[in-house]
Amino acid sequence: MLIRILKDYDAVSAYAADIITEVVKGNPSCVLGLATGSTPIGTYRKLIEEYRAGEVDFAQVRTYNLDEYYPMAPDHVQSYRHFMEEHLFRHINIVSENTHVPDGTAENPAAMCRDYDAAIRGAGGLDLQLLGIGRNGHIGFNEPGASLFASTHLTPLTENTIEANARFFSSPKEVPTHAVTMGMASILGARKILLLISGKDKHEALLRLYDDTVDPQCPATFLKLHPDVTVLADEEAYHG
Ligand code: PGA
Repeated sequence: MLIRILKDYDAVSAYAADIITEVVKGNPSCVLGLATGSTPIGTYRKLIEEYRAGEVDFAQVRTYNLDEYYPMAPDHVQSYRHFMEEHLFRHINIVSENTHVPDGTAENPAAMCRDYDAAIRGAGGLDLQLLGIGRNGHIGFNEPGASLFASTHLTPLTENTIEANARFFSSPKEVPTHAVTMGMASILGARKILLLISGKDKHEALLRLYDDTVDPQCPATFLKLHPDVTVLADEEAYHG
């Protein structure tokens, strides 16, 4: 795991966008695992700038998002599908059919989850997985617990995450109680992982990446098992 401390959020975003752009230039039909949340917004903004400047072409890129609330309609303003359309997809030349977000309306979520993992495998696996991190060390909606799930699955959200995400809804009661998320194996199966960490409230989570332990109570520590992880953190997250 390579941890780079950069000056601020903008520096993290610019660096992350450069890494993603290099992957796309190296393989124009690459498969990207994408993330939602506040953290990657700056990265997506930089990617849009690079696209507009003619520096990168997404025409053949395929994407699989980490997670989606459940139940959640794709056109709901708080859905992760909507987030991706607003913050990235509608601003670049990606083909809509090539973008995938777990289906928050699936009648049989277990079958949808199996199909999602199979689709990623069928696409040749993820070339790069972009990740944010929760204050509690979650990645995607893999929340701290006695054990973690390997594959894509339906999961209840913890109180901590409901509280953290309540800012996007009119009240904590409006936050969906469940989500569909890629599991640890789905994430660790990516050939390259890029984890972004920004802000004081992520300090404790960042510190957990410096020791040598792997702990289901801090799911991000499992990234230490992967051979190609780059962590980009800003000074606020580092100093706390
Ligand atoms: P944030 O969320 O980027 O909005 O802080 C990250 C996460 O919870 O994974």
